[in-house]
Amino acid sequence: MQPLLTVNDLTMDFGGIRAVDRVDLRLRPGEIVALIGPNGAGKTTLFNCLTGLHRPTGGDLVLAPPGRPQRNLNGLPPHRITAAGLARTFQNIRLFPHMTVLENVMVGRHCRTTSKVFGAIFRPEATVREERETVGMSLALLERIGLAEQADEWAANLPYGAQRRLEIARALATEPLLLLLDEPAAGMNPQETQELDALITSLRDDGLAILLIEHDMKLVMRLSDHIVVMDYGRKIAEGTPEEIRRHPAVIRAYLGEEEYGA
Ligand SMILES: Nc1ncnc2c1ncn2[C@@H]1O[C@H](COP(=O)(O)OP(=O)(O)O)[C@@H](O)[C@H]1O
Ligand SMILES: [Mg+2]
Repeated sequence: MQPLLTVNDLTMDFGGIRAVDRVDLRLRPGEIVALIGPNGAGKTTLFNCLTGLHRPTGGDLVLAPPGRPQRNLNGLPPHRITAAGLARTFQNIRLFPHMTVLENVMVGRHCRTTSKVFGAIFRPEATVREERETVGMSLALLERIGLAEQADEWAANLPYGAQRRLEIARALATEPLLLLLDEPAAGMNPQETQELDALITSLRDDGLAILLIEHDMKLVMRLSDHIVVMDYGRKIAEGTPEEIRRHPAVIRAYLGEEEYGA
C-alpha cells in the first residue's frame, strides 16, 4: 500500500543545534509506527515539524490520503496541517483547564465546521444543526474514551490519565488520517496504560495511522508494526519490534544492556 505520509530528509536546526538530522519516515494507513530514543533525541521536535509548530530547516513532508491527490505539507501552519489530516497530543498536556471536558473535545471540531461570526450572532438553522452535530460527535468520542460521565466537569479536575485520554479525544475530533501521540502513557498507572493500549489498538483497527513517541517499551513492543530509533537527531535504526529488540546500536544507545519488552 502507498504510504500515507512520506518524510524525506527532515532537518531542524536551532541556532547551532541540529535537533533533527535528515530523518526519513514512512507511514501507511492503519499502521502504528513508534518513535523511540533517549531524552533529547529529537522526537518531539520531529512531531513539531510534522504538525507545523516548527518550520523545518530542510526536507519534505508529503501526505497522500487514499483516493485523493497527494499534497506537500512543507511550510503549512498548524491549522492547515490539522485540516489536512494530522492531529496530535502533547508531551506536556495542553488542555483548556477552565473549559468542560465536552467543550475541550468540541474545540477539536472547529477545523471541520463552517459557521463563522455571522452564524454565532444570527444563529441560522445551519449553524444550530452544525452545533448539534458537534455536540453529538464529541459525546460519542467521550463515550469511546470512557469519559462520557465526566462531560460537564472542568478538564482541570480530571485525574492525570483521564486528561491524557481527553487530549486524544480532542485530536480525534478533527477526524485525522494520522494521529501523533507524544508519550501518551507517561504518568499513567498500569490499568490506565492497559486502557490506552486497547484504545490505540481500536483506533488502528478503524484504519487510523498512528505515530507514537513512547518510553514504555512493553507498550511499544506490543503495539508497533514498525519502530524507528532516534539518537542525537538521527535515525540510528528501524525495523520490526523483534529486530529492534536485538539491534546492537539500539541496545547501546537506548535500552541499556538488559533485554527489554519480553
Ligand atoms: N525550541 C527549541 N529551541 C532550541 N532548542 C530546542 C528547541 N526544542 C528542542 N530543542 C533541542 O532539541 C533537542 C531535541 O529535543 P526534543 O525534540 O524535545 O527531544 P525528545 O523529545 O526526543 O526528548 C534537545 O537538545 C533540545 O534542547
Ligand atoms: Mg519529547
